[in-house]
Amino acid sequence: MTKILFKTEDGIKETTLNKGERVLSAAFKLGLDEKGFGECGGNCVCSTCHIFVEKGLESFPATSTCEEDLLDTVFNYRENSRLACQLVLQQDADEIIVEVPSK
Ligand code: FES
Repeated sequence: MTKILFKTEDGIKETTLNKGERVLSAAFKLGLDEKGFGECGGNCVCSTCHIFVEKGLESFPATSTCEEDLLDTVFNYRENSRLACQLVLQQDADEIIVEVPSK
């Protein structure tokens, strides 16, 4: 089990992520979907699950083609931009830190 911190407009929120689980699921556990996060439910079509991965990127798979295509469309793209629905935890880490971009 890995601790995951989300930096959001409302402050830092913390939960845990199990191996094989998506970062999107962790965001849903924290109620971020109520703020429009993850609108397509993880089908790689909406890009509302865009996050910046500040720590722990090595615990996730490389960017998929659909993810790359969607990340090309986000206005606030950064080097560490990823889509939470495509981030399945491959191996446990001490801590993962992600930032949810402000709208
Ligand atoms: S939840 Fe829609 S692209 Fe990730």
